[in-house]
Amino acid sequence: MPEELAVNGGPKTRDTSVKPWPTIADASGRDFGEEEMELLRQVIESGSLGYQYGSMVRQFETEFAQRHGSRHACAVSSGTAALHTAMGALHLEPGDEVITSPVTDMGSIIAIVQCNCVPVFADVEPLTMLLDPDSIRAQITDRTRALMVVHSLGQPCNMDEIMRIVEEHDLYLIEDCAQSHDAKWDGRDVGTFGHFGCFSLQQSKQITTGDGGIVVSDDDDLADEAYRFHDKYYDRSGEGRKPERIGMNYRMSELVGAVALAQLRKLDGIIERRAERAEALMAGIEEIPGVNPATVHPKATHTWWRVACTIDEDVLGCDAATFTRAVIAEGLPLRQGAARGEPICMLPAFQDYAAYGTGDFPWEPPYGRRVDYRREDYPGTNWAMENVWTASWNEGYTLEDVEDILRGLRKVSAYYTGRA
Ligand SMILES: Cc1ncc(COP(=O)(O)O)c(C=O)c1O
Repeated sequence: MPEELAVNGGPKTRDTSVKPWPTIADASGRDFGEEEMELLRQVIESGSLGYQYGSMVRQFETEFAQRHGSRHACAVSSGTAALHTAMGALHLEPGDEVITSPVTDMGSIIAIVQCNCVPVFADVEPLTMLLDPDSIRAQITDRTRALMVVHSLGQPCNMDEIMRIVEEHDLYLIEDCAQSHDAKWDGRDVGTFGHFGCFSLQQSKQITTGDGGIVVSDDDDLADEAYRFHDKYYDRSGEGRKPERIGMNYRMSELVGAVALAQLRKLDGIIERRAERAEALMAGIEEIPGVNPATVHPKATHTWWRVACTIDEDVLGCDAATFTRAVIAEGLPLRQGAARGEPICMLPAFQDYAAYGTGDFPWEPPYGRRVDYRREDYPGTNWAMENVWTASWNEGYTLEDVEDILRGLRKVSAYYTGRA
């Protein structure tokens, strides 16, 4: 007889009140220590907390750029600020269209709309939730000026296809790497394919400062625009204080720069631990009837921001919602679908075209067009939201934690397949 499921009143696989999972919300799932303390101490003792006067932010930029083989890097106050800075540097016209993913954070779209551009959403491939190149092609119009790809959950998009599209249609390319520090396509770092690569250092990311971000670029002119945009359009290298355009204040402080630098120097170790445990989990899942491991393209290096897997309903004899409910009741750190449960364009802000004042700008003539945002236009996204389950992940997970997850998955699989 299969063991009774916790969802039916049986014992839990893991009692999280006794043995909680490591979490990104506190030290259990984050790697902070003496390295951060030492650099913070240096900043405090220097008395220079602003990047204009100190050296921590500059050093972080230098090491981040070097690590990525990029000519330039500009540290900013968040991932959203990184994307806005990249968009701001392009000097697009109001109403220009930027194609992006419907499975992303608001930060991606805020950057587009705050540059008065119109976000257009292509669909994602259902198993990976990464942009589907054919769907991108179908969204291109004579108003499309840029593509903002989102490397989701730690995985790169198919950059062979993306670069073909960018070249064929002469588009700007911004890579949203917020969730995918150190991910690679065909051995090359994400963030280095496009005009700009934008990273977040928010609390949940592979490396973090609580909030923070950074932009990389190989284009000298665009990088210069980005640098000015993030700091009130001041040119701090020269005469300076006579901005030719309107920028923002997205400066990173030296305190944040100190933590960012210490975290960056730990990135290899953090990714190694995440990958070792995630790969052990995937190997275990291979052996469980009806549960499919994450889909990873052969050219992709995954850095496991979250883990995303599917089930085979025919083998299990239950649907994804039933399966996820059961594994969550077992105490496993999973959820169904991605954060939102629907394409991001179904949020009220997009349904109401609500960005500025009471009108529909930038979605209205004479600037832009009123793009229809309809759930049914995103079958890949809708499928993923129902059928993919994701697990939160961090470098605090141990092989023992992995074994507990596998025990829970085996138990639920055995119950539904009757193969105990
Ligand atoms: C894909 C994606 N883009 C953009 C952002 C925005 O980053 P931040 O929260 O640092 O502004 C996030 C993270 O929250 C993200 O996951």
